[in-house]
Formats: sequence, C-alpha cells, structure tokens
Amino acid sequence: MQSIVLKDKSFVPYITAETISEQVKVIAQKINSDLVNETPLFLVVLNGSFMFAADLLKEVTIPCEISFIKLASYYGTTSSGVVTEMIGLTEDVKGRTVVIIEDIVDTGVTLEKLVTLLTKKEVKQVKVASFLLKPDAYKKNIIVDYVGIKIPNDFVVGYGLDYDGLGRNMKEIFVLNTK
Ligand code: IMP
Repeated sequence: MQSIVLKDKSFVPYITAETISEQVKVIAQKINSDLVNETPLFLVVLNGSFMFAADLLKEVTIPCEISFIKLASYYGTTSSGVVTEMIGLTEDVKGRTVVIIEDIVDTGVTLEKLVTLLTKKEVKQVKVASFLLKPDAYKKNIIVDYVGIKIPNDFVVGYGLDYDGLGRNMKEIFVLNTK
C-alpha cells in the first residue's frame, strides 16, 4: 500500500482491505445471529457508508430490507434554530427493528440525531453498526452495537470516508500523515 495525496494533505496506509473484509464478516455474523428472529430494516447513512453497507449486506443472510438516508440540517423558523431532518426514508418504521449503518462514529452527534428522529417514529428497537469508532472522541451514551475497528482520534480516509469529497473510492483506509 502506498501513501496517497488528496488536495493539500498526504495520507499513509492504515487498515488493509483484508483486515476490513475480515471485520465486516465478523459484524455480519453477529447480526445474523442476534437478529435471526427479526426482519430488520437497514438504514444506510449516505454518503460515507455506501462501501461498508455493500460489503456488510452481502454477508447478511437473514431476511431484511435496505433503505438509504441522509441527514440534512437547516435553519428552521422555530426558536430552536438548526433543525435536523432525515431525508430519503419512505418506509413506515413504526414497530420495526432498525439497524443504522454508519461508516464512522466520531463525537456521536450525528448518531444521536438519527436515533432521536427514529425514536419519534416509534420504532421497536434501534441497533447501530459502525465500521469505525473513535472511543476517545465519542461523547454520547447510545450503544454502538456492532463496531468493526476502534481507532484513535485521527483523521482517516478511504472505504467510503472522504477528505473534502475525495478518497471515498479507496478500498483501504489511510490516516492523515502528521509528520
Ligand atoms: P460525528 O462527530 O460522530 O457526528 O461524525 C460526523 C461525521 O464526520 C461522520 O459521519 C463522518 O462523515 C465525519 N467524520 C468523522 N471522523 C472522520 C474521519 O476521520 N474521516 C472522515 N470523516 C470523518
């Protein structure tokens, strides 16, 4: 694996495609056994999760549905200021087991917003699968049920993750070169 340059920054190899693939299979096996009696709805959080979701869901063997969502923030007219909305969800999620698929959980702000929005829709339960987790940055109490790899508080790209829109297509994960 060679270092890469994206715009003004260079990134060094960090997690190989083989390690990623092994961890994805471990998560899928856990989901297959934990949710064997459910027909979950997987909610893929775009853009970053597309690659993890594609790999993971090929290994999921239980009956399931898959939908793709985005979080959009805008200034609302209420006193609360910024409003976050989930766009793309057309399924009725009431009473259902929903599995959020995330590329990375960093501070957990995004995840908390999503879980709040889903809870309002009266889901039966929310499970969370995130390929990466930064435990030192994570500030929320929501349990991330399925984690591929825990990483330090470093900026990474590849496997769906971007730096300023670039790097999502790499099949390996690279970390910012700070040297
Ligand atoms: P949060 O802080 O958990 O809300 O994460 C917000 C979003 O920041 C994630 O969904 C990613 O899109 C992005 N993000 C966080 N850490 C990284 C990183 O290391 N590389 C690329 N994107 C990141």
